[in-house]
Order: sequence, then C-alpha cells, then structure tokens
Amino acid sequence: MSTPITTRRKTPADIRAHKGKVPVVSLTAYTAPIARLLDPVVDLLLVGDSLGMVLYGFDSTIPVTLDIMIAHGAAVVRGSQQACVIVDLPFGSYQASPADAFRASARVMAETGCAGVKLEGGVEMAETIRFLVERGVPVLAHIGLQPQSVNAIGGFRVQGRSDEGQAKILADARATAEAGAFAVVIEGTAEPVARAATAAIDIPTIGIGASSACDGQVLVIDDVLGLVSDIKPRFVKRYAELAPLITAAATAYADDVRARRFPGAEHVYGKASKVS
Ligand code: KIV
Repeated sequence: MSTPITTRRKTPADIRAHKGKVPVVSLTAYTAPIARLLDPVVDLLLVGDSLGMVLYGFDSTIPVTLDIMIAHGAAVVRGSQQACVIVDLPFGSYQASPADAFRASARVMAETGCAGVKLEGGVEMAETIRFLVERGVPVLAHIGLQPQSVNAIGGFRVQGRSDEGQAKILADARATAEAGAFAVVIEGTAEPVARAATAAIDIPTIGIGASSACDGQVLVIDDVLGLVSDIKPRFVKRYAELAPLITAAATAYADDVRARRFPGAEHVYGKASKVS
C-alpha cells in the first residue's frame, strides 16, 4: 500500500526561526490559482489588503472589508499546501480595541484556515498584539509606511527620514517584538533605520522598499509580474512583464472573433453528432 505524501505547512514559528538564518521569501497572493503557482517557492503567502488597489481598483486600502479579506484568504489557503498563509486585518476591523481585533482575527482564522493575521501599527498597537498572541492569534506586525494611515500621513511617503522618524520606527520594531509578534513587515523605510531595527529585535524583519538589510522580503505579486502598468513603486524589481502579453492575447482573440475564425465543436472535441 502506498503512503500518501503529506506536506507540512510552514507555521509562524517556522517563519520566526528564520531570524539570523536564511532570508524569509514572501509574496502576496489573492486567488487560488496564483497561490498554487507561488506555493512551492515561498515561505509565506500574504493575503494583503493591497488587493483593494490591485484587484478592486480602489485608490487606497481603506475601503477593503473583512468579508473581502475572508473570501480571498480562504481561496489562498485552498490553493496552497506548504506556505504559511497570513491574512491582513482591514482598516476599521481592529484599531478601536483589542476585543475588536480578537473578534476580527477569530473570524479570519476560523473562516479561512490561515495561520495568523497581519495588522498595521507599532507602539500604539502593542497592547492589541499582546492581547491577540495571548489568546492564540499569531501576529505579523507592519511598521514604517502604513498604507491604512495614508490619509493621516498625507500620502504614500518614505518613512524614517528625520531623526524623530527613525526613532519612531526603532521604537515600533521593539514594541511589536516585545508584544509577541512572530515577525514584522517594515515598509518604505530608508536602509540605515531598517538595518538598525533588524539588529535591535529577535524576530525577522520582512522588508518591502526597506533594503536587503531586512531578514526577508515581501512584494506585491502583480508588481513582480508586471501586471500593473500605470504605477510602479521605485523599489519594485519586476521579474516579468505580463501586461503587454495579456493585451496581445486579447487583441489576437478579438481579431479571430471579428474575422469569424472559430472552429465548430467537431474540431475541438472530435466528430460532431449528426444534426437533423
Ligand atoms: O497589503 C499588502 O499587500 C501588504 C504588503 C505590501 C506588505 O501589506
């Protein structure tokens, strides 16, 4: 009798164990087919609320709801086998109180099967992170540029340029690690402060536009694939240019439709039955 091959899914503890060792490889995924393609090569699949801008065409991540995150989180869990899947808590679902954060996290974890949640905020969210971790919710923190605060900070701006900004990012990194986060995303932050934060804490820092001084990297999959043609953040290295390929495929299809170049079913599926 053959033994079925079982793949052990990576856990938040496995991600934490990367500190000081091999860098954490992470990409966002929002759908089951993309999760299936990325799963063999990444440690962590992040169902980021960036999906609001990337998939839904919103100007920011603010309008994303818990139901949207749960639908996409469940799809990514279904499409993957070995990666640790973490789902973003959307704006408004966790900031008001630790109890709100727990209720939102419990729904996300129960309804998607993911391993934990990500939330934005440092010192001001430390109490919430501790509350969640003590109640069985693994937390990936997110500091530096925090897109859910785009209206308060006046745009998507690099963080930590001033002495005060650098001190804040360092304090945020320490606070999230001390509160029990298993790792922390540092976004849009200058290299020296990302390096200092990485050295100051005992959990992995996962950078996005924060230099290779971090313990790992995360990128938005649509940026990596060149699917977003209008906006290209400066720190994004594209590994493919799929947008022109999609336009070319759609154009070839449109040409076939207009030229009536479509075979009947007998050419596609075999001989058709006689039509009387
Ligand atoms: O929402 C997201 O995709 C993120 C990553 C860019 C870190 O937070």
